[in-house]
Amino acid sequence: VDPTLDLVAEIQRLRKEKNAVILAHYYQAPEIQDIADFVGDSLDLSRKAAETDADMIVFCGVRFMAEVAKILSPQKKVVLPDLAAGCSLEDSCPPDEFEKFVKAHPDHMVLSYINCSAAVKALTDIIVTSSNAEHIVSSLPADQKVIFAPDRHLGGYLSRKLGRDMLLWQGTCIVHELFSEKELIKLKAKHPNAPVAAHPECPDNIVQHADHVGSTSSILKFASETESDTVIVATEPHIIHQMEKASPEKTFIGAPGADGNCSCNTCPFMALNTMEKLYLCLRDEGPEIELDEETREAAEKPLRKMLELSA
Ligand code: 13P
Ligand code: SF4
Repeated sequence: VDPTLDLVAEIQRLRKEKNAVILAHYYQAPEIQDIADFVGDSLDLSRKAAETDADMIVFCGVRFMAEVAKILSPQKKVVLPDLAAGCSLEDSCPPDEFEKFVKAHPDHMVLSYINCSAAVKALTDIIVTSSNAEHIVSSLPADQKVIFAPDRHLGGYLSRKLGRDMLLWQGTCIVHELFSEKELIKLKAKHPNAPVAAHPECPDNIVQHADHVGSTSSILKFASETESDTVIVATEPHIIHQMEKASPEKTFIGAPGADGNCSCNTCPFMALNTMEKLYLCLRDEGPEIELDEETREAAEKPLRKMLELSA
C-alpha cells in the first residue's frame, strides 16, 4: 500500500460506496475501534451481524466472530482483515475430538462458549457468551447434565457460582492465562482503593481477587459506574481505550503479567488486524468467510437458541 495514502479517508469512501458495515470488538487497536460503525462484545456483535441491512460486513475481530456473522447472515458477504486471526480457545477444541467426547456422554446437553469453530457450534445445543452464560445456565433444570466447552475457566467460574457440576472441556485463552497473581497482589497493594474488574476467561486465582467479573461490556459498565477513580482491568488491555473515552477523569491500569506490566496480555490474534488490512479488505472484498451450508445450518440452531434465550 502506498504509504502516502490516507487510510482513514479511503476506508470512509469505500464503506459508503460498498454499503459496508464495520463491526469491531473491544480488543481491536484504538484506531480500528474509532473507525468502526459499532464496537461491542461478542453478544452485541452477533446481534448487530444478524440485524444489519448492509451488503457487506467487515468484521474487525477474530475469525470465529466473523463466522458467527456469516452463520447468522448467510446472504451477506462477510470479510475479515486477516483470516489468520484465530483464537486459542477455538484451537483447543478440535471438532473431531469434541464429537467423540459428546458421543461418549449422550445424556448431557452441550453448551459451548461462542469462542469455538463453526464445526464445534454444529455439535452444540446452546451457544453462550460471557454476557449471557450465567442467565442461560441457570435457566436449565438443576438435574440437567451439561457439557461446557471449550473454556475451562469460564466453565469453572459458572459451575462454582451456580453450584452446578458441569463437565468441562479443558480449553483456555492464552491471553487471560498470562495474568500473574503475585504481580496483581503487588499492584493491589500499591492501589488499595482500586477495584479489580476481571473477565471470566481468567483463571480462578485471578478471579478471586476481582470485585467485578463479567464480559467486556459489563467490565466497561462497571468501569464507568464505579465511584473509584482508579480501576485495575484484568482483560485484554485494548479495552482501556473505551474506558478512557467514557471516563477521562479516571485511571485504568491493565492487570500485570509475570513481567509486572500488561503489554504481554494483548491478544496476538486480534492484533493481526491493522488499518492497512482493513482498507485492503474493503477494497478487495476479501478475505471472505466461507462455510459449507450443512455446517452453517447446524451451527445456526444453537446460535439462534442463544439469541432467543438472551433477548
Ligand atoms: P466478550 O467480549 O464477549 O466478553 O469476549 C471476550 C473475548 O475474549 C472475545 O474473544
Ligand atoms: Fe481468543 Fe483469548 Fe484472543 Fe479472546 S483474547 S480472541 S479468547 S485468544
